[in-house]
Amino acid sequence: MLHLGDALFYGGDYNPDQWPADILEEDIRLMREAGVNLVSLPIFSWATIEPREGEFHFEWLTAILDRLHDAGIRVDLATATASPPAWLSRSYPETLPVDRNGQRLRVGSRQHLVPASPILRAKMRRLVEKLACACGSHPAVAMWHVSNEIGCHVSESFDPVTIKAFRSWLAERYGNIDRLNTAWNTSFWSQRYGSFDEIDAPHLLPTFHNPAQMLDWKRFTSDTLIDLMLIEVDVLRRITPDLPVTTNFMELHPPIDYWKMASHLDVVADDSYPDPADPASPARVAFAGDLARSLGHGRPYLLMEQTTAGVQWRASGNSWKRPGQFRSWSLSRVAHGANGILQFQWRQSPGGAEAMHSAMVPHSGRRSRTWADVVELGDALARLSRHNDGELARSMPSASVAIALDWEAMWAMESMIGPVAVSPHQLLRDWHKTAWEAGHTVDFVPYDADLSGYRVVIVPGPILASQALAASLAQTAREGAAIVITAPCGIYRNDMSAVLSGYHADLSEATGLSVVDLWPATRDNYERWAQVDPSCDRISGSVRTVATDPLQLTTLSGQTLTGGVWAEDIRPERGTDTLATWGPGGAAGDYAGSPAITRHPWKAGTVFYAGTDLAPLGRSWLFAQAQRAGGLGDEPVPPAGVEVIRRGNYRFTINHSDEPVTLATSVVDLATGQRLSQVAVRATIVTYDA
Ligand code: GLA
Repeated sequence: MLHLGDALFYGGDYNPDQWPADILEEDIRLMREAGVNLVSLPIFSWATIEPREGEFHFEWLTAILDRLHDAGIRVDLATATASPPAWLSRSYPETLPVDRNGQRLRVGSRQHLVPASPILRAKMRRLVEKLACACGSHPAVAMWHVSNEIGCHVSESFDPVTIKAFRSWLAERYGNIDRLNTAWNTSFWSQRYGSFDEIDAPHLLPTFHNPAQMLDWKRFTSDTLIDLMLIEVDVLRRITPDLPVTTNFMELHPPIDYWKMASHLDVVADDSYPDPADPASPARVAFAGDLARSLGHGRPYLLMEQTTAGVQWRASGNSWKRPGQFRSWSLSRVAHGANGILQFQWRQSPGGAEAMHSAMVPHSGRRSRTWADVVELGDALARLSRHNDGELARSMPSASVAIALDWEAMWAMESMIGPVAVSPHQLLRDWHKTAWEAGHTVDFVPYDADLSGYRVVIVPGPILASQALAASLAQTAREGAAIVITAPCGIYRNDMSAVLSGYHADLSEATGLSVVDLWPATRDNYERWAQVDPSCDRISGSVRTVATDPLQLTTLSGQTLTGGVWAEDIRPERGTDTLATWGPGGAAGDYAGSPAITRHPWKAGTVFYAGTDLAPLGRSWLFAQAQRAGGLGDEPVPPAGVEVIRRGNYRFTINHSDEPVTLATSVVDLATGQRLSQVAVRATIVTYDA
């Protein structure tokens, strides 16, 4: 059994059935050389385990488990359900998913499955039962890995079985069809339904979908995927009640409410592939780390998959990690609470779709730089794991800043049609990045969380008016915290009916205002419109719009900030101050002088509201106000490019830049055992501050 708090783990996905059996000895030799102590297998081996329906082979797997156990390597045993074998799809074609266009997807890739299919679920259940009985008590097995990236490629299916399940789900939610008609406002466009049997999934449609139907479809999709996972979890808990169960999450994966999913698992594990070409990738590493820790409510987690160097699947191009980044980003994940660093995959595939994806053992084997990096990280993790008898693995980072995160609110933003597209994921990432750039570790919290102890709570875009959120915020305000709420806020009720009395609804007591109009400011077509040339276009060259002049805000002290695409007519109540106004220039000049950012003293705390999606400078300005109001001291700011994170008594100093950073005094880096007076380019050092 795996006790995640005992040590730091290192390894990756191990797919040995791609290779002749005799590669196992070399693999084990190399795993020991690299310090690997945990591998995940056999994630995609359903066809090897059950080559024909009802014919199960576990001998090969048991032989591998035996050898790994002899070598002291533990196994995160996967249930192998992520890619059904060809015979299953052939015998039961109704298990193949149907896309939004009504096209059935075929065999030849992976995850070709209908999540709601009773036949598929029965076949999965039988496979997992057989596997748990055959291998669940093997001493190498430390934990269970359910499926793989649930809902990654196929999260929804528009087949008859799923549509029937959607109807039953709706019947249960609404009780009778009249309630559904009211909630979905079906009087509009003659969408009224006479019975649940008339309802369809939101397929490819002549024009816009009904947003309430779409939101319910997303809720149903999430519930269906979680149920699919629970089929396996229930079998595993029955047959091997003592083994922990996990599955791999994918950051903010849109289709599944990860708060709900995590509540059924013992360990959270995540897969994270920041693009090395993106300068904000270090922020994304921190984002993924903070999120994975938060989904487990502060427990240590596993980074289940990342690359050693690069992926092969980005349509926009696949940049390789620069020297130092594999190690530094991995240690950043440890700093954020990971007790295991695993990669996709152990040995680079000899063929197939992922042959050009990096791995721990590249095609060229030990001669590559990647292998040297892999061994170096294994050594660092082993040293850190041993230090002070495992103190690091037992401690966790703590945060004074929280960001409220709710899947339903994200689904609502994705389901609504206009007035402008705001990406809920981008809002969350942007605000996390702002707090991270200011030097903070951040906890993500659900809307109904207990927020005691946080000094700053950020709520990016709570579009669904939520009493639960209002109640949690009231409690943190009583403790004197600062709260930052941003647009879009309180536009819809839970069923996507619009709030009619001025937006903000349940949150207006907190924000001290309501919003009476939206002033969308889209710039989407700017490139096309920019064909206008003022030197010859006498009239159109004189027309100013939101596209020619982006949204501007002015703070009380006269500083200019830039807004995004969302603006609104804010009506503050008595006691609410205006900290920034729209204009004077730009499109927002039409509303010059009216409030854009406000501050409201509420209970013992302060609520800031921003009626736009601010650019980085605006976010950092507003965050600084909140930091001050929430009583967060001004910590010394590390030099540019340097991230400092604390996990218990350990301090991780990460130099993300291309310049070495000189330290005030020389220190012993626990990850190498060396005394250093500099943090090298793209390097991380770990020190102990007890
Ligand atoms: C995902 C999957 C892996 C592999 C990697 C490649 O994370 O879980 O099986 O395909 O992507 O990056």
